[in-house]
Amino acid sequence: MRFDLRVIVENSALYPSMWSQHGLCLYVEMDVGSDRKRMLIDTGQSPEVTVHNIDALDLGFDDLDLIFLSHGHYDHTGGLMGILRRMSCRVPVLAHPDIFSPKLKGHPFLRFIGPPFSRAQAEYAGAIMLESTGPIRIAKNVMTTGEVERSVPFEKVESFWTIKDNLYCPDTIPDDQALIANIEGKGLVVITGCAHAGVINTIRHAQRIMGVEKLYAVIGGLHLMDADDERIASTARALLELDPSIVRPGHCTGQKALSHLQQTLGDRCRPLATGDLIKL
Ligand SMILES: [Fe+2]
Ligand SMILES: [Fe+2]
Repeated sequence: MRFDLRVIVENSALYPSMWSQHGLCLYVEMDVGSDRKRMLIDTGQSPEVTVHNIDALDLGFDDLDLIFLSHGHYDHTGGLMGILRRMSCRVPVLAHPDIFSPKLKGHPFLRFIGPPFSRAQAEYAGAIMLESTGPIRIAKNVMTTGEVERSVPFEKVESFWTIKDNLYCPDTIPDDQALIANIEGKGLVVITGCAHAGVINTIRHAQRIMGVEKLYAVIGGLHLMDADDERIASTARALLELDPSIVRPGHCTGQKALSHLQQTLGDRCRPLATGDLIKL
């Protein structure tokens, strides 16, 4: 099975023709039977940057079969309307329904960090919203995780807020999910947006629902930028035990966690950058 992943938007850029921005957008091209299918995982933060980079790579918009939103934060959903405007047909958009629940940061000042559009606006622009709390099968051996079961004690969600039943309360970001694939002969690929559910929780959940133990690759944001040393060390230890061949952290992983992961995992861990092509 061919499964190629191109980084459309990430915080850091290596290639002069591409723009970078805090956010994430990944382009996946896979062979499904005799067909070639193309999908986006997240859409970056702003239409201008995401659309510019898709044009720079000459990928085309009308070839997109699917858009998957890993969660409702602005830096993953903000490019959607720009992409839809460039498409001449409607496109299925997979997401958890809670991407549209209030997404807030409380410090230093109350800030809305959810999608810069409503469900109705996305649909009007051409999105066919497919909302599910559980996993969705995309192709043979490729699926979304749905809500991630959380059992790892050191992986807690902190400093996000929402409003539920008219009350301001901590947001555990239940909408956070990953795209997973089982590559024959290699093992499980786990592609995260921010991994707010915790990367180890996400991997274990993926192993359970896919029925595959062997972890091959972990790619995406690991949201460890505000994590303390203990959580970073525990994550690195757990990843070492899971023994993946490829680890490509980026976006919200944070420099301290990235260095620690590289120390622990050696050569198989390399940071993600805008423009990277990863052939799995
Ligand atoms: Fe993020
Ligand atoms: Fe996020």
